[in-house]
Amino acid sequence: MCGIVGYIGDENAYKVLIGGLHRLEYRGYDSAGVALVSPEGHLNVYKARGKVSNLENFCKDKNTDGLVGIAHTRWATHGEPSDCNAHPHFSEDGNIALVHNGTIENYKILKDALMEHGCKFHSETDTEVLVQLIEYIRINNKCSLVDAVREALRQVVGAYAIAVIEKNNPDTIIAARQSSPLVIGIGDNDFFLASDATPFVEFTDNVVYVEDGQIAVIKRGEPLKLLDLDNRESTVDVKKLQISISQLEKGGYPHFMLKEIFEQPETLRDCIRGRVVDNGRRVILNGVLDNKERFLKAKRIVLVACGTSWHASLLGKYLLQDMCKIPVTVEYASEFRYSNPVLDENDIVIAVSQSGETADTLAAIKIARSMGAFVYGISNVVGSSIPRETHSGTYIHVGPEIGVASTKAFTGQVMVLTLLAICIGHLKGLLSDHEVERLGHHILQIPDYVKRTLELNESIERLSLIYTYARNFLYLGRGYSYPVALEGALKLKEISYIHAEGYPAAEMKHGPIALIDSEMPSVIIAPKDHLYDKIVNNVQQVKARGGNIIAIVSDGDETISGIADHVLKVPDMPECLTPIITSIPLQLLSYHIAINKGKDVDMPRNLAKSVTVE
Ligand code: F6R
Repeated sequence: MCGIVGYIGDENAYKVLIGGLHRLEYRGYDSAGVALVSPEGHLNVYKARGKVSNLENFCKDKNTDGLVGIAHTRWATHGEPSDCNAHPHFSEDGNIALVHNGTIENYKILKDALMEHGCKFHSETDTEVLVQLIEYIRINNKCSLVDAVREALRQVVGAYAIAVIEKNNPDTIIAARQSSPLVIGIGDNDFFLASDATPFVEFTDNVVYVEDGQIAVIKRGEPLKLLDLDNRESTVDVKKLQISISQLEKGGYPHFMLKEIFEQPETLRDCIRGRVVDNGRRVILNGVLDNKERFLKAKRIVLVACGTSWHASLLGKYLLQDMCKIPVTVEYASEFRYSNPVLDENDIVIAVSQSGETADTLAAIKIARSMGAFVYGISNVVGSSIPRETHSGTYIHVGPEIGVASTKAFTGQVMVLTLLAICIGHLKGLLSDHEVERLGHHILQIPDYVKRTLELNESIERLSLIYTYARNFLYLGRGYSYPVALEGALKLKEISYIHAEGYPAAEMKHGPIALIDSEMPSVIIAPKDHLYDKIVNNVQQVKARGGNIIAIVSDGDETISGIADHVLKVPDMPECLTPIITSIPLQLLSYHIAINKGKDVDMPRNLAKSVTVE
C-alpha cells in the first residue's frame, strides 16, 4: 500500500506528480505529500492529511515550481494519518527528502541508535528513520547520495520502494526496491517512477520494472543505471507498457466501481479470447500446456490468496476437484506463510492475486518455491511481482481495476480458474471432448449472459432503497454458490460498512439462524443446480422465522420465487459457470446500498487496493 511517484525532466514536476498521485490514490488515501526542488535551489515539501485533493488545495498558494520532485499517497501503518506522519519525510538538515512504500521492520533499533547520535525525529513513522540514516551516512562518510542510500539500505530489514531527492543535487533521483513494487518510465527527455505504471501512461510506454535489491540512479540527460547493494551494475531491460489512458478513466460512469461492473461482458471476452477456440471445442492455457508433465503428476493443488482473490480460489477448489479429481486446499496466504506448510515437488501451488503485489501472497510463493512445489500465478497486472516470481501462470486480462472493491477481477479470476480446471481435466482424460465442447460453448456465451444480468441494475437500485439502513445481512449459498455468498458479503461490508456474513446455507441452522428476524435480510444464492432442492429447505427455514429474503435464482425458477420477498433472475447455465453470473447482482446491490448511504465506493475508508504490507 502507499503509492510513490517521482519525476525529473523538462516539465513542471508538480503537475506530473499530482496527476500521478490521483492515479495511485487507490493504494491509500490517508494523506498525500510532495517534495520539489525549486529553480532557486529550495527543497519545498508540502503535505496534507486525507486525499490528494486536500494536498492540491493546500498547495494553491505555494511555490510549486521545479523540474524534479517526488510524491506520496499514504495508507497508514506506523503512526496515525496526520500531516506530520505524511510523506515525504526529510532529513534534519532539510537537504534530503524521501518517499517510501513498505515497512522498515528494524526501524526501532535504527531510530534508537540515531537518537544516541543526537538525531531528532518529528514523526511516528518507520520511514523517517531511513531518511535520517541516509543523511547521517552522507555527512559522516562524506559520500555521494547514491552511496549513502546504498549503505543505509544495507542496514535496513523490511520492505521498501523508495525515491530520494536532494536539495543540492537537482539533476538526480535515487530509487530502490525490496518487496514493494517500483516501475520506471523512460521518456524522450524525462524519467518517471511510480509504484505502478499508471501515473505515466500518457507520457511514455517504455518501462523498466526494478527488481528486488536494485537501486536506480536516475540522472537528467544520462541513461538509467541499475546497481545492486554491492554496487554491481546490471543491464536495463526496457519493456513496452500494455495499458492505455482510456482504461484509467471513468468513461462517463459516476464511479470506477460501476464502470468496472458494467465492463464485465468485455473483460470476460478479453479473458476468454484465444483460450476457448474452435467454437468452444478446445480450451488452451499455455501456462498449463507448456508444463503438462507437472500438472499430470500433481498429487495436490494448494491455492493461496487473500480477500476477494481467496473467494475466487475457493471456487477454484470446487472446479478443480470436480473436473480434475485432485485434492485441493485453499489457504489464506497470511496464515499459510506461518503455518509450517508441508509441500514437495508433487504439489502445485496456485497464487491468485489481482494486483500481483500482495505481500502475503508473495511470501507464500517464496515458501512454496523453496520447498520444490511448482508455482502457478493468476494475476491481472502485467509485469507485477507475482507473475515474475512464479514458474508459470495466466493473466486474467481484465484491464486496470481502480475501484478498491474488486469486481471484474473476481469474475476474471473465476473464469481463468474454470479454464484451468477444464484444461487439466481434459489433459488427464477426465473430461471428454464432448464435455469440453459443452462447457466451451457456454463459456463463449458468458459475456452475453453477463450483459443480460446487468439489465437487472434498475430493479436492484430500487430494491437497494428498501435495505439501505439494514444493520446486518446474511448471505447464504451452497456448493458453487457458497463462495459467491462470501464474496457478496465482503462487497457489502467493504463499501457500505454494513455488517454482513457469508455462510454455507446448511450451516445456518448450527448458529446463525438465531440472528434471523425481520430486521436481518438474507440474500440467498440459489441457481438451478444439484443442491437446489436442499437450499429450498434453507429458504423455508429463514421464512419461517420472519426473515426477509432476496433470492438470486435461475430464469424459469418457480419454487423459491414463490417464497422469497424479492427475486432476481439470472440466465440458466451449467452449475460450474453460475458463480460468474450470480455474483453480478450482488456487486450491484452493494454498490447501490453504498451510494444510498453516501459512501465513497471507489475509496472506502481504511482500505487500499494493493496490500504490500503484511
Ligand atoms: C476486496 C479486495 C481485496 C483483495 C485482496 C487481495 O474487494 O479487493 O480483498 O482481493 O486485498 O488483493 P490481490 O488480489 O491484489 O492480491
